Amino acid sequence: MMLWVFQQPVRIAGMDILKTVHVGSAMLSITGFVLRGAWMLQESPLLRARAARILPHVVDTVLLVSAIALALRSAQYPLVHAWLSAKVLALLAYIVLGSIALKYGRSRRVRLLSYGAALGVFLYIVGVAVTRSPVPGL
Ligand code: HEM
Repeated sequence: MMLWVFQQPVRIAGMDILKTVHVGSAMLSITGFVLRGAWMLQESPLLRARAARILPHVVDTVLLVSAIALALRSAQYPLVHAWLSAKVLALLAYIVLGSIALKYGRSRRVRLLSYGAALGVFLYIVGVAVTRSPVPGL
């Protein structure tokens, strides 16, 4: 049933809704991460606020579900298509680096380096997505 629903792009006002949800949740994810990173650098208590702890999980769940739905709809799969394997691996790296930056990093230096690396990995994922190549630019 789900496969049938997702076989054709559902468009509203010319926009592919599923892709819009995917790209939109990716933008929300990075916006929230940049904001929480700024709070981390300022040692702000806002980082521990309820919304700052819960909302990222909601956004990232939407991002991941839309990613899976897009993969099913376009019949392109991680471990089959190199660019999607690269995206999944890079997403894992983004999650690990992000949690070191915002939570587990022991020193400010480690947190700052992880924060920068996580931002770099995110840019790489966007590059992979747009070029559909694991090595964007080549
Ligand atoms: C932080 C994580 C992610 C970001 C920033 C991201 C970003 C994007 C962007 C910008 C596009 C649109 C590309 C274009 O049409 O020009 C896209 C498409 C797509 N993404 Fe992601 N993505 C992420 C995670 C994933 C993951 C983990 C998967 C793996 C299943 C995935 C699967 C797809 C697929 C299949 C498409 C293309 C659909 C099509 O051909 O129409 N994404 N992504």
